[in-house]
Amino acid sequence: MTAKIIDGKAFSAKVRAAVATDVETLKAKHGVTPGLAVVIVGKDPASEIYVRNKVKQTAEAGMNGWHYELPAETTEAELLAKVEALNADPAVNGILVQLPLPKHINESAIIAAIAPEKDVDGFHVINSGLLATGGRAMVPCTPLGCLLMLKDTLGDMTGMKALVVGRSNIVGKPMAQLLLDANCTVTIAHSRTRDLAAEVAQADIVVAAVGVPELIKGAWVKEGATVIDVGMNRIPKEDGKTKLVGDVEYAAAAERASAITPVPGGVGPMTIAMLLRNTVTATCRQNNIDPDAL
Ligand code: GUN
Repeated sequence: MTAKIIDGKAFSAKVRAAVATDVETLKAKHGVTPGLAVVIVGKDPASEIYVRNKVKQTAEAGMNGWHYELPAETTEAELLAKVEALNADPAVNGILVQLPLPKHINESAIIAAIAPEKDVDGFHVINSGLLATGGRAMVPCTPLGCLLMLKDTLGDMTGMKALVVGRSNIVGKPMAQLLLDANCTVTIAHSRTRDLAAEVAQADIVVAAVGVPELIKGAWVKEGATVIDVGMNRIPKEDGKTKLVGDVEYAAAAERASAITPVPGGVGPMTIAMLLRNTVTATCRQNNIDPDAL
């Protein structure tokens, strides 16, 4: 079998167009313009690129955007004060503090300070608790993007065996929760899993989010499975340059899977699209507007 390539670039463009239409409706029908504030502390080059893209796409969707670039020496108290000011600002519907933060700042304390209803990353414990108990959570962007791609590819996933490789709070755990909500039988594998090959071989759906280049071998993948690769690992090439690879051995996996996401161009572009979608969702909830009625 040769896999269908799940095109995250094209899919995310469709999501962003739908978000832009919703923003137009919110403005025209409700007089509300969604607003997203993005805060970055220090000058990590990879984070700066991510944040620039987030700010650019916020504007392209017709939303208000604020981009705060704070110096690396910013204290935890100063960052908390910034978050509290954004919590109190009614024009700001979503707040994103880019991670990682400098080592002298406690990330958990900052995430806990963000008003849960403005937590468009879905990292606040209130939101992870709501997700775990079937409530109205803000859902973390990367797993939400993976879920959308899976639904688009597979439709109803009831009864399927899903394997999530990785147990982070940002991807693995919420992904498992979303697959459980979609009626899959879910296994979470991690670095201490005894026989990863055997787990992969049983899975109808594999979501790989471990951050280990090509850990999951193509030969392990069950014939006809759907593979979502969240990994973004930069590795050296023979010519001294670098290349981006996922957590799955792509070419070999594509020979066995029925559908697979490439790296780059798979999950990556969906994450920012979901951030914009979450900002619209947050805006609707804060204004008692039904997002399904837009
Ligand atoms: N750093 C890398 N990805 C993310 C993300 O999705 N949200 C935040 N806040 N920081 C990140």
